[in-house]
Amino acid sequence: MPDANYDNPWWPLIYDQWNERGARQQTHEREFHFYSRQLAGEAGSILEVACGTGSILLRLLHEGVDIRGFDCATGMLAVLRRKAAALGLDASDRRVCCQDMVDFCYDQSFAAILIPASSFMLLPSQTAQIACLERIRAHLAFGGRLLMNFYIPSLADDLLAHVSPSPSLEEFGEFTHPETGRLISVWFKKTVDLGEQTEHYQWFFAYDGETAVESMTARWIYKEEFQLLLRLAGFSRWQLFGTHDGQPYAGSKEVGMTYWVVNR
Ligand SMILES: C[S@@+](CC[C@H](N)C(=O)[O-])C[C@H]1O[C@@H](n2cnc3c(N)ncnc32)[C@H](O)[C@@H]1O
Repeated sequence: MPDANYDNPWWPLIYDQWNERGARQQTHEREFHFYSRQLAGEAGSILEVACGTGSILLRLLHEGVDIRGFDCATGMLAVLRRKAAALGLDASDRRVCCQDMVDFCYDQSFAAILIPASSFMLLPSQTAQIACLERIRAHLAFGGRLLMNFYIPSLADDLLAHVSPSPSLEEFGEFTHPETGRLISVWFKKTVDLGEQTEHYQWFFAYDGETAVESMTARWIYKEEFQLLLRLAGFSRWQLFGTHDGQPYAGSKEVGMTYWVVNR
């Protein structure tokens, strides 16, 4: 299994708090509406790849969608299961399990497979990305759809500002430990490798006088490159939108979101 990025004790503690505040909350709501709208009237089984703490999966399940999901970070899945229990929703092993995006396997096919929240960018190489898309194609029913979104970072505002090999410490936010109520302060250092198209993060979690350091790598993908990945995995029909509500993608000087509907 590759470096799982979120597979450490800290992200499960803060992920939902981060997801539910400020600019991230707005993005999350837009993402949710994209998936919810695309799935309206869909009666078949749905799969969420990299479902994390269930911020999308549990809401769709609550709306009556027959959705299953997997993630490779057991701590993120533990949060999902606790939330499901509190809401009286089913998060049994049949519905939610631990698997990897590159080699997941189910004994059924799905009417739609979702990859929200730019999780596809956590795949570290083209080989892994193509393997994931091939697994998705193999698990889509004929006529099924892959629905996903990922961001394309801004070259001017973000990437070029992070090429330094000695990055500065940037503030991420303050969070509350869900069990103790005590503060977790989070900082990060970010370095960009323009040649490899990768963003490398070092995360600093300061809690009770100690600081834990965790790493994370994300690989950005351009629109034209992603279309080639889709073709290599056997897809030939898709639509790309620049907003959750279906506006065309026009590129952007700033960070841009891409929303994809890919047909099997
Ligand atoms: C940004 S979170 C998204 C979680 C959830 N989909 C949501 O919308 O809130 C990314 C998730 O991808 C998972 N992940 C990263 N690499 C993975 C892999 N190779 N296989 C499965 N899950 C992976 C992480 O554990 C994490 O839970």
